[in-house]
Formats: sequence, structure tokens, C-alpha cells
Amino acid sequence: MPETIAGYDYGASDLAPSPVTPQELRDLEASVLWTDDDAASLARAAQVLDGQIEDVLDVWYGFVGANPHLLAAFASPDGTPVDQYLARVRGRFGQWIRDTCTRPHDGQWLDYAQEIALRHTRAKKNTTDDVRSTPYVPLRHVIALIYPITATMRPFLAKGGDDEDTVDKMHQAWCKAVTLQVALWAQPYAGNDW
Ligand code: HEM
Repeated sequence: MPETIAGYDYGASDLAPSPVTPQELRDLEASVLWTDDDAASLARAAQVLDGQIEDVLDVWYGFVGANPHLLAAFASPDGTPVDQYLARVRGRFGQWIRDTCTRPHDGQWLDYAQEIALRHTRAKKNTTDDVRSTPYVPLRHVIALIYPITATMRPFLAKGGDDEDTVDKMHQAWCKAVTLQVALWAQPYAGNDW
């Protein structure tokens, strides 16, 4: 892991507290069938994925790069992809994979989930990397990306030599964790109608 990741602010003292209450988080966890076993499966996933993060990101970035409607979110107003923006976000994305596998779902985690959400919206997109690009990522595209972000993970989870059942549990836990976070990220898009 690099010593510092550009724009990565997990646990920063000036981070705004999430408006999502711990009870709301517990309710959402219940909705995605989250259990302690999932946290344990993701701890194993972190070990398996260690050393494969760049390979995972190559797949995801390849997918974004191949889809103009997604690449647009990383492009300047004239449509040219901003390489520095792509590179800086890539570093945070890699750390997010690690965080998703290892961080407990506590207040700090909730606050950074809200920060990530804001960074996809008009409130904060482009500010962390001081870039001129599209003003927000449409929520519908965030929701749709759940499928590739989860489906493409299985082959990487299978590379650790675990039996099929263990791989399946890791994959299910990954799917739950991503769905849970995207549900949380809907908050700033939908405001009080959340
Ligand atoms: C930023 C994950 C959907 C475009 C990020 C970051 C993560 C992430 C972890 C970095 C957060 C940080 O700053 O620490 C995800 C996941 C998605 C998703 C898991 C869906 C399941 C999308 C979609 C787009 C997109 C559909 C559109 C192409 C971006 C952009 C940034 C970003 C442009 C940088 C925002 C900024 O700070 O200016 N995303 N994302 N994301 N994502 Fe997403």
C-alpha cells in the first residue's frame, strides 16, 4: 500500500458526520442479510486479494474506459479523459477494496461512506482532485455498476486456493458489502426522501 493515497480521507478529523444513524445502518445490514460471518469471510478475502488489487483495478478501469457514458465522468468538458484524475481515483479505489474487506462498520466507516457518496454528487465531485469534469455521477449508473463490481470479483477470490464453499462465502459477503454501501451512498442523492 502506498504511504499516502492522494485525496484519501478515511478517519480525517474534519470529515462531516454521516446523517445516517447507527440504527439505520443496522437496518440496512439486516436488509442485505449481513452477519458476522460475512465480516469473517471478507477478512479472508482481504488476504486473498492482497497482491491482486492492481489486477482487479485493471479489469474495472478497462470496463469504464470501454464505456463512453462512464468514462465521461473522468473527462474534461471537451470530452478528453483526465489522466491525473483517473490515476488519483484509482489509488483511492484500491484502498476502498481493502477497506471494504477489513474495516468495521462503525461511525468512522459510516462517515467515510457518506464522504464517498458526496464525491459522486454535485456537492463534492471534482473537488478532491481539483479537476474540471462532469458535475456528478448519475445515481442510476452507480446502482448499475454494482453488477460488474461484484460479478468480476469472483475469479480473483478463487485464486487463493480455498474450496468452492469458502470462495462462495467470500463472494456473497463482497456482494452484500457493495450493495450495502451503494444503499448508503443514495443518501445525499435522495435527501430527505431517502
Ligand atoms: C470515486 C467506488 C460507481 C465515477 C470513487 C471512489 C470509490 C468509488 C471507492 C473513491 C472514493 C474516495 O474518494 O475515497 C464506486 C463504486 C461504484 C461506483 C463501488 C458502484 C458500485 C461509479 C460510477 C461512476 C463513478 C458509475 C461513473 C463513471 C467515479 C468518479 C470518482 C469516483 C468520477 C471520483 C469522484 C471525485 O472525488 O471527484 N468511486 N464508484 N463511480 N467514482 Fe465511483
